[in-house]
This record gives sequence, C-alpha cells and structure tokens, in this order.
Amino acid sequence: MNIRLAPSILAADFAALGEAVAAVERGGADLIHVDVMDGHFVPNLTVGPAVVRSLRRVARVPLDVHLMIEDPDRYIEAFVQAGAAMVSVHVEAASHLQQTLSVIRSLGATAGVVLNPATPVGALGEVAAEVDYVLVMTVNPGFGGQTFLAQSESKIRRVRALLDEVGNQAPVEVDGGIDLETVGRVVAAGAEILVAGSAIFGAPDPEAAARNLKAAAARHRVSLRAPGALPA
Ligand code: DX5
Ligand code: ZN
Repeated sequence: MNIRLAPSILAADFAALGEAVAAVERGGADLIHVDVMDGHFVPNLTVGPAVVRSLRRVARVPLDVHLMIEDPDRYIEAFVQAGAAMVSVHVEAASHLQQTLSVIRSLGATAGVVLNPATPVGALGEVAAEVDYVLVMTVNPGFGGQTFLAQSESKIRRVRALLDEVGNQAPVEVDGGIDLETVGRVVAAGAEILVAGSAIFGAPDPEAAARNLKAAAARHRVSLRAPGALPA
C-alpha cells in the first residue's frame, strides 16, 4: 500500500491559498484536493477552472480535482487544461460514465469514480476494471467538517475487494471526516489516498497537522503489511 495524503483546500483560507498549499506541502502532502461544487449536485458553491489554474502555478504536487457537479462532461476539458492531474466524477452525475472516464484519460489526466454514501458498490459495475481510482465518500458531499460515517469502513473493504477481483490495483480514496481518530480505520480497510480538510486547515498549524496525519496513516499501513512483504 502506498499512502498518499490529499489535503482539501475547502477548509483553507481562500484569500491565502498559495500559503495553504505551501504549508501542507512542507508537511508532506502528496496531492492537493480541490472540491468543485455547482450548487445543484450539492447544495454549495466553490471554485472553477480559474482557481485550479492559479493553484497549478503554485503547487508542486499534483492537483486532485473532485467534481461535485451536474453534467461533468461539460467541464472536464477545462479542468484538465487548467492543470488537474486527477479528475473524479460522481457515478450519480454521469450518464455515460465509461465514456466520461475515457475522455478524462484521453486528455492526459487520471480518471476517478466517486460513490456517495447511499450509492452501492455495485454501481461501479462495468467500469471497475478501468478506473484509475475510486473515491468513497465517507460523508455526504457538500460541506467540510462533517462526521465520518462509520458504515464506510465496510464499503471501503468491498470496493477494494471488487477492484482486486477484476485485477485492478487502482487505489481507493476516502473523503470526509478523516482525522487522527478515523484515519487508522480507513487505512486498515484499504484506503490509500486520504483527503482531509478540517483536520488539516482547521488546525492551528496545518503543516504539523498534515505531517501528523500522514505519520498516523503510515503507522497503520505498516501494521497491516504482511510479514515478508516488500516495503510500499
Ligand atoms: C466534501 C468534500 C471534502 C471536504 C472534506 O463534500 O468533498 O473534500 O473538503 O472535508 P473534511 O475533511 O473537513 O470532512
Ligand atoms: Zn472532496
């Protein structure tokens, strides 16, 4: 397992995003998670490609763009051109999911599928073999600072099992309520990309919070590793 930390700038000060990115990069962030909301698919509004473009200029790590929007096909190209390295779309919002994933990849980004808490694992269905990552929402999307849904643990395991079954080593990403309390449970369940907003940017020292969260995740990863397994 290769744990990656993806701080979500949703919880950062939007007037100082460059400083926020620099702080978490010093703390070991592997990705920057950007939450795009349209006020329709979720009841909140955030940022568009212009902000992604500005972030791309300052970030040293790849940008992980999570589209919580209706009709994502309309905007994928704009986000990839703006600098998104990873683009994820909600299965609930994409009517031609296989095509959407293929478009993301043809533009040169990696393609993720997101499942809302109420969406069954089986919704991945025929695309399980070709996704680059699966994002399991561990809260209902729309806002930061919500409580981790405990039933997500078994869902992470079931998504991991489904990917393994079809021979896809794509990582499972988790998003919502990830903090020092919950990180061990999601890593134990098989999550490898960890999004965290409030736990990092709500802390007095986001750099230290990122470092501590990643270290906590790594401890659980190590304890999971089978005897004799090669280091991740
Ligand atoms: C929620 C977003 C999350 C959010 C997580 O809809 O997708 O990425 O920033 O925030 P926390 O970590 O505060 O739950
Ligand atoms: Zn997100």
